[in-house]
Amino acid sequence: MARRVSATDGGRRVLLQWADGTTSAFPAVWLRDNCHCAQCFTSGAIHVRTLLMEHLDVDCTVQEVKLEQEGAEVAMRWSDGHAGTFSPGWLRQRAFEPAQRAARGVVCRPTLQPWDAALAADLPRLPFVRVMQEDAALLEALLHLERYGLVLLEEAPAQPGHVRRLCERIAFMRTTHFGEEFTVRVKVDPTSIAYTARNIEIHTDACYYDYMPGLQILHFIVQYEGKGGETQLADGAQICRDLRQQDPDAFQLLTTVKVDFKNVTMGENGKHHFKLLQAPVITLDSEGELQCLRFTTSQRDSYFSAPIEQIEPWYKAMKKLLNMFYDDKYIIKRKMKEGDMIVFDNVRLVHGREPLLEGGCVGERHLEGGYLDWDEVRSRRRVLQERLQGNPSGYGF
Ligand code: OGA
Ligand code: ZN
Ligand code: ZN
Repeated sequence: MARRVSATDGGRRVLLQWADGTTSAFPAVWLRDNCHCAQCFTSGAIHVRTLLMEHLDVDCTVQEVKLEQEGAEVAMRWSDGHAGTFSPGWLRQRAFEPAQRAARGVVCRPTLQPWDAALAADLPRLPFVRVMQEDAALLEALLHLERYGLVLLEEAPAQPGHVRRLCERIAFMRTTHFGEEFTVRVKVDPTSIAYTARNIEIHTDACYYDYMPGLQILHFIVQYEGKGGETQLADGAQICRDLRQQDPDAFQLLTTVKVDFKNVTMGENGKHHFKLLQAPVITLDSEGELQCLRFTTSQRDSYFSAPIEQIEPWYKAMKKLLNMFYDDKYIIKRKMKEGDMIVFDNVRLVHGREPLLEGGCVGERHLEGGYLDWDEVRSRRRVLQERLQGNPSGYGF
């Protein structure tokens, strides 16, 4: 409930004092842009603005503002002659003060929890069956994914088909030129390092995509019975923060020098494809946090289109980053069990696999994998949060 309202700054702002004594300020232009009268917004299923930017006076002011209906309505008239009303609760949910903005930021993206090797002692994990059956368990799993970039789902039935089931419970599978689900096995005539017994060096998948697959799922249907084959994971968000502190020059090179990422083969569908992307290894967001990590040896092209003086220092910076990924301080190693399904952030974490020792064919190592996109995963998490926890941060109409 609002206690008092006034226009300030020559009508450019409206100040609302709440019953608890705190005050929120609202810009006149934002209020005008968001007038919800029948002339300015559609009603019904699609709730969208019909006042076009073309007709919005960005210098408009509030000429008159008052509380009506004993504080249950804020009525105002703008300099363009238009008049509208707002509910104080609706305004409060949209307040511009730091606390409200932070609360909305967390709904958009939960706070990252970067980690190091210590996470191995307490890996975020849930039983697969619970995640498939209970919405609360699914929400917990999705929150782990957003915070830590990984969740281990245990005791999934050790048969193909369950990666798809999980993806379809969350949203839908992300397609690449490999199709939807993919199979990793040791093969006699391998078309990828992943299909051999060799070390799979730590990497992110499909770096040659501008919109890389956001998440990866690996389901261990049959695990290798001999020595070796441990799965390796490390958190690029933590390591990038540390590299920036320890070696700002190396960090700078990895965020600016563009690398040629390429994949040219026959896709699973028999069609030729030519994936090519020039992008830095580390892409940062507007806050300087890791947005996307493209770390790969096999998908880096021999073409390298950066200026020659950057090449040698870039290699040194890459080696430094690689050594950090493999450092015991950061890396998690785990020999996955049959039925384990590891889900992880493919644009934040790196993953790899230790070599299969003792011949590499003992038991038929068999994995099924798939990808998801972050937009769909975050959307699903918000829907679940709204359904199970209400709407504490005030999103909604
Ligand atoms: C891959 C991969 C991991 C594994 O195929 O890209 O990382 O454990 N495989 O086989
Ligand atoms: Zn209006
Ligand atoms: Zn991989």
